Amino acid sequence: MKQHLVIFDTTLRDGEQSPGASMTREEKIRVARQLEKMRVDVIEAGFAAASPGDFESIQAIAQAIKDSTVCSLARASENDIARSGEAIRPAKSGRIHTFIATSPIHMEKKLRMSPDQVVEQAVKAIGWARQYTDDVEFSAEDAGRSEIDFLCRIFEAVIKAGAKTINVPDTVGYNIPSQYAETMRQLIERVPNSDKVVWSVHCHNDLGLAVSNSLAAVLAGARQVECTINGLGERAGNAALEEIVMAVRTRADVFPVETRIDTTQIVAASKLVSQITGYPVQPNKAVVGANAFAHESGIHQDGVLKHRETYEIMRAQDVGWTQNKLVLGKHSGRNAFKSRLQELGIELDSDETLNAAFARFKELADRKHEIFDEDLHALVSDEVVTPEQEHYKLVYSRVTSETGEMPQATVILNVGGVEHKAEAGGGGPVDATFKAIESIAGSGAELLLYSVNAITTGTDAQGEVTTRLAKGGRIVNGNGADTDIVIASARSYLNALNKLESTLDKVRAQGDDI
Ligand code: KIV
Ligand code: ZN
Repeated sequence: MKQHLVIFDTTLRDGEQSPGASMTREEKIRVARQLEKMRVDVIEAGFAAASPGDFESIQAIAQAIKDSTVCSLARASENDIARSGEAIRPAKSGRIHTFIATSPIHMEKKLRMSPDQVVEQAVKAIGWARQYTDDVEFSAEDAGRSEIDFLCRIFEAVIKAGAKTINVPDTVGYNIPSQYAETMRQLIERVPNSDKVVWSVHCHNDLGLAVSNSLAAVLAGARQVECTINGLGERAGNAALEEIVMAVRTRADVFPVETRIDTTQIVAASKLVSQITGYPVQPNKAVVGANAFAHESGIHQDGVLKHRETYEIMRAQDVGWTQNKLVLGKHSGRNAFKSRLQELGIELDSDETLNAAFARFKELADRKHEIFDEDLHALVSDEVVTPEQEHYKLVYSRVTSETGEMPQATVILNVGGVEHKAEAGGGGPVDATFKAIESIAGSGAELLLYSVNAITTGTDAQGEVTTRLAKGGRIVNGNGADTDIVIASARSYLNALNKLESTLDKVRAQGDDI
């Protein structure tokens, strides 16, 4: 009998700490629904005390999600824990994840606390958290550079205080697999009552070892892995969920554990997170990269055609690499459109938003006969800003581009109910269009990223554009999709401007992180 390996996804918390990967509440709910569909055990939905926006996102996810535990991160302080406790209150199953640093460098230089004070604070934190839920996780931040004797001491104390999961983070990605596994093995052996808790790993990828370290610790007895979709996360990222899950499944001969993940949902989750955050997936990325199952060399192709397993250790369809699914066409009605969105976990929050998205769908279906799930995700990505938040609306856009001439753009925007027209020239059609928009909006925002990606195959594919803007310490991503990439770009730019503009926007200021 295999033991259960708990998959704890922190895309919405540690993943969101990637520079510029901030997500709005609606986007987080969409990701959470996909994680639930994939049967993730625990969804770390955010860090409730970081901002009111984070708090509300966690609360909304706690309300929406039924089949996964919803967790909030909290420093070991009474206020942080109270905010987390409130945020997860609506959850069917809720967890508080509290942490304090335990390495000498963090205790001395960051916390300015003695080891005794750190232990005392950790124990208090568990007590505060248990007032809200029995499901309390404790993390020793920077455990990877902490002294093993001190880890044993603090873990013994927090287990006694009622912690149910003990997490051993390699916060700065410093460990190597054999060393990290040995730490885990010693902790399980030495800490009293270690068999009463779930031992967890949380590895960062600074040396490219996050997945290897996590798996080594699983072999040493860890039974929870903290990970993110596409390995998104602080600095070089966290361990990639898809790699952990597929390693355990593909090497069932080696791992004494199994997950309950529906692996066929992995590619959809990867695409969704990439689309929302604007973090592209590299083509040669394991499991979810576009080339992960492509065979270029003639010898390999020949081998695979004769017998798939000559060169393939996993089946593409097992991780959700099915052919693009034709879902809707130009004759599909509003109800079919709405129910397909629901199946994809997309809830539009008002009839007005649904009508706007449906109108866009019809327009798209006229130009592009085959509409796939990916098209629908892209279509709603720039439509989920509710009309009252939509300060800037694109009314008209035209661009001329000819050999030897500077492209010229004309745009008309509706700004808070009043139409404005502007013209501008630029280095290319997109540059000209952005300049024309900016001459109306006058946002002064800094463009951090502009990326275009074809959503499906074929020259009639929608171009999906991500525009990342920074202003006043806030970073937002705007998404836009259209078969015309200049229009997609304009939508994406306006989507980002609307997020910056919106007073209701819950995007967290960068720098509020832990
Ligand atoms: O990397 C880390 O140490 C963390 C903790 C808060 C778990 O993200
Ligand atoms: Zn982390």
